[in-house]
Amino acid sequence: MTDFAATKAMFDLPEDVIYLDGNSLGPLPLAASDRVSDMMVKEWGQMLITGWNKAGWMGLPTGLGDRIGRLIGAETGTVVTGDTLSIKVYQAVASALELCRDRKVVLSDNGNFPSDLYMVDGLLRSLGPDYELRVVAPEDVAANITDDVAVLMLTEVDYRSGRIHDMKALTELAHANGTVTVWDLAHSAGAIPVDLSGCNADFAVGCTYKYLNGGPGAPAFIYVAPRLTDRARPALSGWLGHEAPFAFDLDYRPGSGIERMRVGTPPILQMTALSAAMDIWDMADMADVRAKSIDLTELFIARVEGTCPELELASPRDPQQRGSQVSFRFTEGYAAMQALIARGVIGDFRAPDIMRFGFTPLYIDARDVERAVEILADIMQNRLWDAPEFKVRQRVT
Ligand SMILES: Cc1ncc(COP(=O)(O)O)c(C=O)c1O
Repeated sequence: MTDFAATKAMFDLPEDVIYLDGNSLGPLPLAASDRVSDMMVKEWGQMLITGWNKAGWMGLPTGLGDRIGRLIGAETGTVVTGDTLSIKVYQAVASALELCRDRKVVLSDNGNFPSDLYMVDGLLRSLGPDYELRVVAPEDVAANITDDVAVLMLTEVDYRSGRIHDMKALTELAHANGTVTVWDLAHSAGAIPVDLSGCNADFAVGCTYKYLNGGPGAPAFIYVAPRLTDRARPALSGWLGHEAPFAFDLDYRPGSGIERMRVGTPPILQMTALSAAMDIWDMADMADVRAKSIDLTELFIARVEGTCPELELASPRDPQQRGSQVSFRFTEGYAAMQALIARGVIGDFRAPDIMRFGFTPLYIDARDVERAVEILADIMQNRLWDAPEFKVRQRVT
C-alpha cells in the first residue's frame, strides 16, 4: 500500500496553499533542490565535459524513460525522454505516417490539445497537399476510423473535461483497420493506470512537468512498441538518435531500439530534477494512486454540488470515465479562479468558462479537498469573485 503521508512529506508545498494544479505543473520535490545543486557543483562544476561519461548523463534519457515506463505499462527499453511534448507528437506522428505510406489521413478529435493539432498540421503541410488532418467530435472517433486513415492521434484524457478515451478498444479498432495509433498521455501518466503494452498501443508521448512533478520545462517522453522500433524511422533525425553518434558519419543511420527517438543534447539539469521526482514515484503504486484519486474527485464533486449551485460539472460523472481532474463551468470562471488563488487555492482556467482542478494523491488529501471547497463556497455564495482585480486577464491562465 502506498504511504501517501510519506509521499506528501517529500514535497515543498507552501504553508497556506492548497495546490489543485498538479495536472498543469507539479510541485517541487524537496530532494530536487539539493540534487540539482549537487549536480551543478559536483558534476558540471568538477567533472566538466567528463560528466557525460563519469556521471552517466548520456544514459539519463533512457534511464528516466524506463522509470516512467513502469507507470504507463511500457516494457523496459521502450521509452526515452527528451525535447518537449509538441516535438514528440511531431516525431511520433511522422514515424507512424511512414509506416502507413499508402494512406494520407491523420484522424484526431476536437477535444485534443491544440498543440497536437498544430504540430500535425505543420507536419502535413510539409508532406504535401494530399495529406489531411481530420478532426471529429470525441464521441465520433470510432465511427471515423475509415480505411483511408493512416494514423489515429488522440489524447487519452481530455485536458479540459478529464474525459477518458478507451485506449484498448480504439487501438483494437484502429489495428483492425490497418491504422497506426499515437496516444498523448500528458494527462494520463501519473494520473491513471495506463497499460500501453496490454493495449497493444503503437506510439505514445507525454510530458513530465504535470503529474510526474519534473518541474517547469521538464522533458517529454516517447514510447514506441518494441515490435515497431526497428521500422519506425525518425523524422527528426538528430545525431544522438544515430546508430553511432561519435562516428560522425555524414549519412544518418537510425540507432537501435528506442534510442533512435533521441534528437540532440539532453537537458541534464531538468533531467536531474526529474530523477528526484521519480524517486517519489518509485514509492507509489498506480492502483493505489487511482483509488485515492477517485475518492478525492468524488468528494470534491459532492461537496461543490452541495454548496455551489452556480457551478456546472463539466467532467464525466462516472469516475471510471474521468481522469484525475474535475472541471466545472461558470461564466465568470476566470474571475472565480483568480479569487480562489488569492485565497491560496490554486487551480486554473481554460477558456471559455472552465474552472479546472487537479487531484494528485501523492500530496493532496481529503482534508485539503474539504478546505478548498469551504473557500470556494465562500467565494461563490458571497460573490467575492465580482471584483475588478479578478477580471484582469493574465498571460497564463
Ligand atoms: C495534451 C497535451 N499535449 C501537448 C501539450 C504541449 O506540451 P509542450 O508544451 O510540452 O510541448 C500539452 C501541454 O500542456 C498537453 O496538455
